[in-house]
Amino acid sequence: MPKIITIGNQKGGVGKTTTTLNLADALGRKGLKVLVIDADPQGNCTSILLKEIALREQFSLVKALEAPVGETDMSSMACGTSNDNVDIVPNTIRCMLWERTAANTPDSILGFLRLTRSDKGLEKYDFVLIDTPPNIGCMVNNALMISDYAIIPIPTSDQFALDGLATFLRILQNMRSQNGRLKLMGVLLTKYDSRANIYVKNRDRIINFFDAKGINVFHTTIRINIDIDRAHMKRKTIFEFDPSKYGAKDHAALAEEVIEIVRREADREQ
Ligand SMILES: Nc1ncnc2c1ncn2[C@@H]1O[C@H](COP(=O)(O)OP(=O)(O)OP(=O)(O)O)[C@@H](O)[C@H]1O
Ligand SMILES: [Mg+2]
Repeated sequence: MPKIITIGNQKGGVGKTTTTLNLADALGRKGLKVLVIDADPQGNCTSILLKEIALREQFSLVKALEAPVGETDMSSMACGTSNDNVDIVPNTIRCMLWERTAANTPDSILGFLRLTRSDKGLEKYDFVLIDTPPNIGCMVNNALMISDYAIIPIPTSDQFALDGLATFLRILQNMRSQNGRLKLMGVLLTKYDSRANIYVKNRDRIINFFDAKGINVFHTTIRINIDIDRAHMKRKTIFEFDPSKYGAKDHAALAEEVIEIVRREADREQ
């Protein structure tokens, strides 16, 4: 079965979607099969990755969640992207309404588990990456419930994101009592600018802080790169936009690191 990774942080604008879609493309370009689940009703991953945007009316996460129990599963909602190795389960804003109706029902935490538990179509993937919204609501709980790992992106100079991190770590801790497989793969520093002294100092401070807590910080830091915004405007990943840009190099390095961590863990488990 694939390794399932939630990209989460309840703080908005930290780089969750940028990480998800570029890590997916990077892994796909290394020959690995990846399914992206867009668990954010904003549908930002969907708007970049989904090749035929009209398909999201027929195939989406919210459609799967709304369907009668047993009628469909997660992989049946997968659609193609411009990378043959990467598929996406799209999402739409209607998912926000579903979240309201699902509150206080088992699906508010177990919906994804219900859709993936006997899903044979997932077996062809090496990785499932789940992009999540900036909150600690039912989509995040659902994602963590089926995940092997979480990655937490944090902008290198965002004190507020750091302040809020304790909340997300607590959610992870709580979810671990229900999903024993769940581990924090690492904190990913994003939007780093080595030209600004404050970023350099803050990066060192953050690394030391998490080291002391025994929390992994990825060796790869995602540098601030205007081409990432340019790529989004053209609805492309950074690799499709221009693989020579350092935004592509950073995400390729992140993919290498993720593969290495998963391989090391698999060796340890054997
Ligand atoms: N390394 C980077 N360099 C420059 N801009 C970036 C970088 N990473 C992300 N951005 C920009 O920052 C903004 C927020 O990024 P993104 O949408 O990935 O964050 P998010 O955490 O998914 O946000 P939300 O919480 O709203 O879902 C976007 O405009 C994106 O293009
Ligand atoms: Mg996002």
